[in-house]
Amino acid sequence: MSSPRRICGLSELSDPGSRAFTAGSGDWPLRGFVVRRGVEVFGYVNRCPHAGHPLNWQPDQFLTSTRTLILCCSHGAQFMIDTGHCVAGPCVGSELTRIAVRVVDGEVRLEEDPELLAARHA
Ligand code: FES
Repeated sequence: MSSPRRICGLSELSDPGSRAFTAGSGDWPLRGFVVRRGVEVFGYVNRCPHAGHPLNWQPDQFLTSTRTLILCCSHGAQFMIDTGHCVAGPCVGSELTRIAVRVVDGEVRLEEDPELLAARHA
């Protein structure tokens, strides 16, 4: 049986806002996060391309204080919300790894089976 693809309800995300999630049921599930901006939601692996750290220090907090960019708290890299492209910090020009998500009936859902997704990013 496949794992649930639901991450959260769209209404559970501030606009703009972010939330962490895990995908996969093994000992090492994939750690990801989603960012809402308007009616759009973007998903990424929670791993900074600079040094491989998780981006957040506080639960579900992935945005700059102005909530216009994604922030890595380790060394301050900043990324575009819609593309994951790094525009400031020590890894300018690199990219966060995208996770395909979509909004269906007011729910933010993974496009891919969570177990396959976790295995692919292990
Ligand atoms: S690990 Fe993210 S900026 Fe260094």
